[in-house]
Amino acid sequence: MSSPEPRDPARLRSARWFAPDDLRSFGHRSRLKGMGFDDADYKDRPVIAILNTWSDLNTCHSHFRERAQDVRRGILQAGGFPVEVPVMSLGEMLMKPTTMLYRNLLAMEVEEVLRCHPIDAAVLMGGCDKTVPAMLMGAISADIPSIFLPAGPMLRARWKTETLGSGSDAWKFWDQRGAGLLCDADWNQVENCIARSAGTCMTMGTASTMACVAESLGFTLVGAAATPSVIADHARLGVRTGRRAVELAWDGPRPADLVTSDSIDNALTTALAIGGSTNAIVHLIALAGRAGIPLTLERFDELSRRTPVIGDLRPGGRFLMEDFYDAGGLPALLNLLRDLLNLDCPTVNGTTLGQQVTDAEVINSEVIRPRENPVSVSGGTCVLRGNLAPDGCVIKPLGADPRLQRHRGPALVFEDYPDMKARLDDPDLDVTADTVLILRSAGPLGAPGFPEWGMLPIPKKLLRAGVRDMVRISDARMSGTSYGTCVLHVAPESHLGGPLALVRTGDTIELDVAARKLHWDCPAEEIARRKAAWVPPTPKFDRGYGQLFARHITQADQGCDFDFLAGRSPGQEPGIF
Ligand code: FES
Repeated sequence: MSSPEPRDPARLRSARWFAPDDLRSFGHRSRLKGMGFDDADYKDRPVIAILNTWSDLNTCHSHFRERAQDVRRGILQAGGFPVEVPVMSLGEMLMKPTTMLYRNLLAMEVEEVLRCHPIDAAVLMGGCDKTVPAMLMGAISADIPSIFLPAGPMLRARWKTETLGSGSDAWKFWDQRGAGLLCDADWNQVENCIARSAGTCMTMGTASTMACVAESLGFTLVGAAATPSVIADHARLGVRTGRRAVELAWDGPRPADLVTSDSIDNALTTALAIGGSTNAIVHLIALAGRAGIPLTLERFDELSRRTPVIGDLRPGGRFLMEDFYDAGGLPALLNLLRDLLNLDCPTVNGTTLGQQVTDAEVINSEVIRPRENPVSVSGGTCVLRGNLAPDGCVIKPLGADPRLQRHRGPALVFEDYPDMKARLDDPDLDVTADTVLILRSAGPLGAPGFPEWGMLPIPKKLLRAGVRDMVRISDARMSGTSYGTCVLHVAPESHLGGPLALVRTGDTIELDVAARKLHWDCPAEEIARRKAAWVPPTPKFDRGYGQLFARHITQADQGCDFDFLAGRSPGQEPGIF
């Protein structure tokens, strides 16, 4: 790495606000003084923004007010001027229809907040699923030095003699309740204890997957991704992150130095090796797009074929994030994958990825499995193609019944989510364990917002007969904590007249994961006839953010970013007025 430039305050970005002897700068300085700050607080010091996604309505970030104080302490220790800036919070548990509708809105907010203020570097405090890609996307577009502080997974939950994993065990016990195997009192007890603390879902769901993606891209301190939210280590992580942000303000690297096709490959490999969420595909395509790096589903599948799954983590495996942390966390896992990684990629720590994992040891080889005994030799997530998904779709075979991964069966089509909810548990529903459940109007435009409806519930009458998995196909996403034989992200989506819009109940569907194939057994002339008769649905929005979303959102295979946000935007720094 090149030697750092001298720390001349005149080269700080914030100096453009505070240094000039003019009326505008007088205003900037005098109003800071009106807040009680002195010259000594900010003069010649880098301004470090703490972008905080705390909200009373974001259950996963409830410790962020306190953690921001730890970050602030670290910034002061290292000679920076900390400023806390709230940005939109996207909490999975309380937002409807889906946080994904707002990922790009938060990304835009982060980009513009960073751009318009006197900020030299930023600490991005996020964690709950969409906050991670959104904040990284915004930081990449603004290209101001940024370090990510993950919220951290919540503590392991216990109920009676069982260890509970958030999300995953909720689905499991819901199915048991539907099958008549769990009484109301037990269900209520599970509700009381499945979320044990502040922090993100403690399975390898989307939040933990994206935290690992952030770490492998070089955006966090070493080992940050798996550090549990409320232990003392996390508070110290916050302090160290604050300290490091000050160094970044002086010497970088910037997001543009971190996000390259090599580091994106590292992040893809990481997401696959941990058995991570299918959502990582959509977010990584969008992240790469912000850096002007084209990323296709094919690249994901290429890496999937060579990457072993060595993180034995729920929902696809056995353990929780706290176990992962105790076992050595992401550095130890990456150290086992050195031959599959681009080790020279820089990180915010001032080292390369290779240097920062080189001494990391696996403490528990049940949780982080050796290469010769992986959870799966390859195929953590697979990309499928066929006449039902010309632009691709995905499936996560981990946690799916192996018997169903090669399957042929009749379709049962639901027009949309309300239709599914109304009919699914009808005792007269014509459905068997071989039926292929299809949900349409669940994509980026159709739902709208691309919600996590892809793990369609098993009909109650089948649950009672002992069925726990079926082939399910939709243009929706699936929660990272979900599991089952669910084909997701079908593109183009049904709302746009993609083939999924034309399937009818009784048509035959063929799934072959090993062959990466999803086939709809329907003659081409019949498909053409149905296509000609298809009537486009009415748009979901006629004003506001929804209309902006509908006009500019891209499809799943393109990352669902807004079309006008892709690529770098040089020259958009604000001038001095
Ligand atoms: Fe926030 Fe799962 S609900 S991470």
